[in-house]
Amino acid sequence: SVLSGCQEKNELVMGTNAAFPPFEYIGGADGNAVVGFDVEIAKAIAEKAGKTLRIEDMEFDSLLTALNADKIDFAIAGMTITDEREKSVDFSDPYYEATQAVIVRKADNPISTKDDLNGKKISVQLGTTGNEIAKEFTDDSNIVAFNTGFEAIMELKNGKVDAMIIDEQPAQNFIRQNSDLEIVSLDFDPEYYGIAVKEGKSSEELLPIINETLKELKANGTYDKLLSEYMK
Ligand code: ARG
Repeated sequence: SVLSGCQEKNELVMGTNAAFPPFEYIGGADGNAVVGFDVEIAKAIAEKAGKTLRIEDMEFDSLLTALNADKIDFAIAGMTITDEREKSVDFSDPYYEATQAVIVRKADNPISTKDDLNGKKISVQLGTTGNEIAKEFTDDSNIVAFNTGFEAIMELKNGKVDAMIIDEQPAQNFIRQNSDLEIVSLDFDPEYYGIAVKEGKSSEELLPIINETLKELKANGTYDKLLSEYMK
């Protein structure tokens, strides 16, 4: 293999935050493996690189630091490509188009337009684009940021906040399991998920393999198969 540096091993280490279904979550046959759409893509990348895949599950907010400290080889976590993140890491070609969704309690939903978010109490996952959007509408003192989306959902269920903001697919997933909650579609901008690598050697050596894998998965129908399997 051409890979060197931190990839000079038989394994390729994927970093993620496995509390973001259907992209990454704890499940599988024994109920405690990290599985999901992103994991399938990561497996294909490892296979193409001729390496074994190891998964490091960590806080979303520490993924880019872990990457730059060589604790992981790439981060795949439904991570939106943003200008801010581009400053510290490199991203693959976009592999999924997403958008943000607002979740509310059915019983007392105060939100029907974006303006209604002004000054509301909002829960989010720390360091996410949903967290950034919340800041556009309400003061920091009204934002409750948690390490996982699950905790942010509990805060909403418990009546402590008026709304929660998270990416649409996980939002769908959460409301399927919580019949007291619903999604308000407010037409936020599209976001594009990318796979992050460290700048420099990783970017030169691993990124082409990642992009090549994405291209192949799309061309051979695997990507569409995964979409229909994981996106409900
Ligand atoms: N797309 C959003 C972002 O990049 C949320 C990603 C959260 N991912 C996760 N695995 N928890 O900020």
